This record gives sequence, structure tokens and C-alpha cells, in this order.
Amino acid sequence: MGDASNVETTDDYWGRDGLGQTILDALAASGKNLDTLTIDDLAPMDQFHPGGKEATVRLARLARLTPGLRVLDVGGGLGGPARTLTVEFGCHVTVVDLTESYVRAADELTARLGLGDRVTHKVGNALELPFDDGEFDAVWTQNSGMNIAAKELLYAGFYRVLRPGGLLALQEPMAGPVQPPIFPLMWARDAATSFLRTPVEMRALIEPAGFRTRAWDDVTADVARPGAASPAPILPQLLMGDELTAITHAQQRNRDEGRIVMVQAVFDRP
Ligand SMILES: C[S@@+](CC[C@H](N)C(=O)[O-])C[C@H]1O[C@@H](n2cnc3c(N)ncnc32)[C@H](O)[C@@H]1O
Repeated sequence: MGDASNVETTDDYWGRDGLGQTILDALAASGKNLDTLTIDDLAPMDQFHPGGKEATVRLARLARLTPGLRVLDVGGGLGGPARTLTVEFGCHVTVVDLTESYVRAADELTARLGLGDRVTHKVGNALELPFDDGEFDAVWTQNSGMNIAAKELLYAGFYRVLRPGGLLALQEPMAGPVQPPIFPLMWARDAATSFLRTPVEMRALIEPAGFRTRAWDDVTADVARPGAASPAPILPQLLMGDELTAITHAQQRNRDEGRIVMVQAVFDRP
């Protein structure tokens, strides 16, 4: 599958209407006061990757993010990582995501937390970033590149929007030593829409885009371990429906059999 179809199918695959309200209703039903919500209240619902908020904080520390940095979160989903970078690390974050219903929900949640002046949400394609050259100090991307085939183009775009001296922080599932992965995956029902490369292949395409590797951690045993924080069941259930049981089963086998590994990495843009 080429990337034109990525654009057409990503919204269909991931998108669901009314997500912001569904999340707020679920939090209210669990006894949270919606007028005093915090990023920790939201974390089980809006950190849409294995490892949850803990993994976000781990990557932010690995990247040594500091207050005032202008961060672009590519494929930022419901905005949990972006709000964490703002509240706990003092960054100003622009989130771009292809799935319109996520951008709407993310915007609602950001407004609810009163963070609208520091976190901005925008619909856009990671492969055609609608930003100026050198506009950001950091590009952040977490579990978002799996459906993207044109990775060279993706990393060239990250390089373009970073200022010299900027950094790229990523968390991505990658192809493990045992192939192929078992489907269905959280992001793809079959091999036609999943584009994982091995860690060696990933470095071999990110570094030629102009990046220098500063940190490279295989966090499979940590972030993707059984019992590690992950989205509250309500969110995957809502998004994946009846397929969730098969996805969860495949996820465990992919991890245990070395078919998929999880990496956190930080690169400098010289
Ligand atoms: C598993 S979610 C991760 C969301 C978020 N990064 C997080 O960790 O909470 C994957 C996200 O990637 C987005 N995505 C996939 N392909 C994209 C593309 N080409 N451009 C922008 N976003 C994309 C999806 O819309 C979805 O929100």
C-alpha cells in the first residue's frame, strides 16, 4: 500500500466521532470532577500507546526537554503526550494528526484543562507537514509511524521543520528478530497497512536524513511489559470493538516471541 492510501484509510481506521465527550462521560461516571480534571485523570484515556504516561515521561527525560521549547508532536492522537510535555516539562506543543475526530477530541480535552494557550491541535499529514522550515526546537512522535510506508520522506520532513540544534524524540514499535508479526495489530488488521522496519533499518534511514543518534533504548521489557500502563480498556474497546481480544492476544505473542520490539530514541539535528 502506498502513502496516498495511508491518508485515505488512516482516518477511517482510527477515527470515531464523539470521543472527547465519551472520555469525559467515562471520567464523570468514575467519580472525577470534570471542572478540576488533571492530566493524570486523563492519562488512562489519552495516552494511546503501550506504557501510558510513564513511557511519555521516560522519553521526555531521555530527550532532556526543557521549559519553553517549541515541540511538534506528529501523530499526537488525543493529545495526552502533548499535554504532559506542557504541564510537566513546560513546553509549547503543536500537535498534528491525520484523524479529524481525534483532533476535535484532543482540542476539547486541552480546552477543558485550560491549556489552549500552550497546546494547539491541527489536522495534517505527517508526510506533508504544514509548517515552515526550522519552526520547531523538537519533533516528538510516539507510536505513530507504523502505518506509514514512506519513512524516508517522513524523516526528511522532521528534519526540515527542525531548527539547527533541534532534536527528534521517538517511541516506535519496530520489527523484531522473528518475522512476520502476528495479526491483527492495534494499528493494522493485516500486512497491507503495517510498515515496521527493524531497529537496524530504522537507524539506517533516520541517520542519512541528517540526524545524529544521541540515545537508543530498546524498552520492550519495560514499556511493553505485561502490566505496564496502557490505555484504559474503554478506549481500545471503543476503537477496536470485537477485535480487541484477538489484538491483545497477538500483542502478547508478538512481544514474547520477539516479533515486535519497542524503541525509544533521541536524535540531534546538527
Ligand atoms: C496509536 S495512535 C498514537 C497517538 C499518540 N501519539 C499517543 O501516543 O497517544 C497513532 C496516531 O497516528 C496518527 N497517524 C497515522 N498516520 C498518520 C499520518 N500520516 N499523519 C498524521 N498522523 C497519523 C493516527 O491518526 C493516530 O492518532
